[in-house]
Amino acid sequence: KQLLEEINQLAAGNQEELEALRIKYLSKKGEISTLFNDFRNVANEEKRDVGQLLNELKNSAQDKINELKDAFGATTNTENKPDLTRSADPVKLGTRHPLSLVKHEIVDIFSRIGFTVAEGPEIEDDWHVFGALNFPPEHPARDMQDTFFIEQNPDVLLRTHTSSVQSHVMATQKPPIRMLFPGRVYRNEAISYRAHCFFHQVEGLYIDKDVSFADLKQALMYFAKEMFGENTEIRLRPSYFPFTEPSAEMDISCNICGGKGCPFCKHTGWVEILGCGMVDPNVLENCGIDSKVYSGYAFGMGVERITNLKYQVKDLRMFSENDVRFLQQFESAY
Ligand code: PHE
Repeated sequence: KQLLEEINQLAAGNQEELEALRIKYLSKKGEISTLFNDFRNVANEEKRDVGQLLNELKNSAQDKINELKDAFGATTNTENKPDLTRSADPVKLGTRHPLSLVKHEIVDIFSRIGFTVAEGPEIEDDWHVFGALNFPPEHPARDMQDTFFIEQNPDVLLRTHTSSVQSHVMATQKPPIRMLFPGRVYRNEAISYRAHCFFHQVEGLYIDKDVSFADLKQALMYFAKEMFGENTEIRLRPSYFPFTEPSAEMDISCNICGGKGCPFCKHTGWVEILGCGMVDPNVLENCGIDSKVYSGYAFGMGVERITNLKYQVKDLRMFSENDVRFLQQFESAY
């Protein structure tokens, strides 16, 4: 009765007063607990009834206080309550990264003419990145791609091109091979608007009987028109790569200025987009493929370069800065 009276006098919502009350009655030295201490003085024949009453008293006091605690908590503790005055804010979905968009598009275009995809490790040995691909030891061609070494003798390094995946595939699969190798590559270059210490490539490889340079040109022309539009023109310039012979670099007509001249094509009307060539017979032999029976072509392109042209991105550092204002612009691109 006394407890109930005191409860009635509690200021509604005052948790401190409620806690004081709990201590007064229910803590170790509280009034109800002391009643339990006096229990041993109760006559034996009354112990049963008194004990039962005591327990009822304790439990109902506990229940009453807990009940009030919940009620007070609900009115004073706003932290866990939803704020119904807030405006509805639907959860935003992320967007695909522009480099992923373009990589998927490249893969999609070549998959329509029979190419499948393979991936390989980013940490490689010398053989798969250079040796098998006809870069002799100490050959100056190795300086074409400034390499990050993890260990030397024997060399463990970050791949400088995804051509390393062709070394794996040719050594383990029998022709015909018609595959794409997308992935990240690393080069020890100073970071600027046009170079980074890592970037992305897609390499293509086709090996079969009687594959010719005309097949290569046909496939690349198809790709350029699918990627940049029906009116796109291509031009092949002689070049050098240790793993292809003959080798070429391919330019496309600048689709940004329409050939009139702009900073993207350095006012020439043409932009270089990839390297290519016929797989050097030494490479085929290094990987256990008979170069008297089979021939093949390979090409490799930078995904950043293609993305720059497609979306007119001038600074390739944007791709790795994760500025959502940049990334959100590609929201509707797929
Ligand atoms: N691997 C070359 C590079 O990274 C590109 C390339 C691939 C050239 C295939 C020819 C054939 O520069």
